[in-house]
Amino acid sequence: MSGNTRSDDPPHAFDAAASGIEWPRLAPEVLVVEVGRRGFTNFNYIVFDRISRDAVIVDPAWELDRLVAMIDQHRLRLRAVLITHSHPDHLNLAEPIAEHFDCSIWMSPQEVAWARFQSDRLRCIAEARWRIGTLEVEALLTPGHTPGCVCYRIVDNLFSGDVLFAEGCGLCMSNNAAQQMFDSLELLKQQLAGNSRIYPGHSYGKPPGQLFANVLRDNIYLQFKDPDSFVRFRMRSGQGWMKAFR
Ligand SMILES: [Fe+2]
Repeated sequence: MSGNTRSDDPPHAFDAAASGIEWPRLAPEVLVVEVGRRGFTNFNYIVFDRISRDAVIVDPAWELDRLVAMIDQHRLRLRAVLITHSHPDHLNLAEPIAEHFDCSIWMSPQEVAWARFQSDRLRCIAEARWRIGTLEVEALLTPGHTPGCVCYRIVDNLFSGDVLFAEGCGLCMSNNAAQQMFDSLELLKQQLAGNSRIYPGHSYGKPPGQLFANVLRDNIYLQFKDPDSFVRFRMRSGQGWMKAFR
């Protein structure tokens, strides 16, 4: 049975909204889960409030039983499936996980339209701050890799999908998309403090959770000042398909 409906709720869990008290704040915990199948390796993230046990999962893929077991073992109440973008290695388990834990799937309306994604559990989310149980989640629209990519910020943690990697940024399919990527990276530069932690969908050497200050220093895609140079570099010829991030 799912962690949402069982009767043995975590000892500290209660309905914050109904309690009438000011909800205490602790930094949310991030569980990093490396999952894979058929040559794909992705990072999934389970983020939860350590008091209420309210949780979200980002881009679940490939290993359903393992993810369900982790959520149950940590006695979490999964409240939402957050999707950064619609590529299969990020969306693969959205429906089964949402079904199992009886929660919604969050995606930007731009991505839904582009991917023609359909689900009874779909919730199109605007660029805004949202409350999910006791978690505060901010959706930042960051197109470029796909037209509706979203990065999710939860306190000081950014879940960046295939927009920003520690070592680079996501592939772009056209010059226009690369222009959008430049603007998205500029937005992240404006929005993120140096002590923010970056949790991408993939790693090309560095483990997830890098400080943004270090990514800002070491990632070549964050060094460009003018969009035209960025677009030419992002779209340069001779890049390998899966590892074209440097
Ligand atoms: Fe992708």
